[in-house]
Amino acid sequence: MERILVIGANGQIGSELVEALSAQQGPNSVFAADIGARSLFGHPNYETIDVLDQKRLERVVDNHSVTQVYQLAAMLSVTGEAAPLTAWTLNINGLLNILELARQRNQSGKPLRIFWPSSIAAFGPHTPAVDTPQLAVMDPTTIYGISKQAGERLSEYYFSKFGVDVRSIRYPGVISYKSPPGGGTTDYAIAIFHAAKRGERYACYLGPETTLPMIYMPDAIRASIELMEAPAERVRTRSAYNVAGLSFNPRELALAIKQRVPQFDISYQLDYRQQIADSWPRSLNDTHARADWGWSAKVGLSELVDDMLENVDVEVREHQAA
Ligand code: SER
Repeated sequence: MERILVIGANGQIGSELVEALSAQQGPNSVFAADIGARSLFGHPNYETIDVLDQKRLERVVDNHSVTQVYQLAAMLSVTGEAAPLTAWTLNINGLLNILELARQRNQSGKPLRIFWPSSIAAFGPHTPAVDTPQLAVMDPTTIYGISKQAGERLSEYYFSKFGVDVRSIRYPGVISYKSPPGGGTTDYAIAIFHAAKRGERYACYLGPETTLPMIYMPDAIRASIELMEAPAERVRTRSAYNVAGLSFNPRELALAIKQRVPQFDISYQLDYRQQIADSWPRSLNDTHARADWGWSAKVGLSELVDDMLENVDVEVREHQAA
């Protein structure tokens, strides 16, 4: 039986991953961890962990006989630009601490399987932007993207040199309603629903034609768990897999919302985030994920918009920011 530690459990993806894994594995097999003193989501088995504290990490993994770690604690593209050195340190040393722990445990016959997310931000302006292949030029421009690119190389290295079973996905922009996103360039695609639900006009910081790869949370969670459940020999990419959900731009998203909320309106006030978005792919080719572990996205734009409008709670953002 697996015993699973989710680090970053107070975050957008971690919070929902803990719920999904608990439903699947039983709540006593899943441990939620984050840097804060308590779980923001009422997770019962909660541990305070600073992922930069290797000793604490090791103690928690030992105490709970953990067999799998999802390491999601990170600073994203926008928050990272405000504090590049902090972002680099958290994103890279956080990963290295887990990889090192797994390397040591391999030697003592108690292997750890690791999930660590990469991102579309690992690509850059010279990457082919449409149908971006698994293997392509990667010249990221944000510190977040640079840390993801470096993390992919580290993951490959720890796999080939030390046999560490590390697995990764290049997450597109992840859209969800249960918890607020954490400072990314793709956050507009969530904020727009909050504005629509409040009856407000949305001032979008990306231009109308800025197409980006996105994924709806249930698909993102399923992709992560399916990759972690795949037999090791099927996981032939040990950097990070392209995983496509859907691609759309602000104009298309606003139109889909307007079809359901006729009074909704959008305006465009571009800022520095436009440049970040322009350096990222518009769509991803995920042939490798499909072939290796059977990935296939389920949620399209229409279903996503219906579900978001039905479930977005306009209180969530204020409540959790407080
Ligand atoms: N959603 C992330 C961001 O915008 C991309 O991985 O930073």
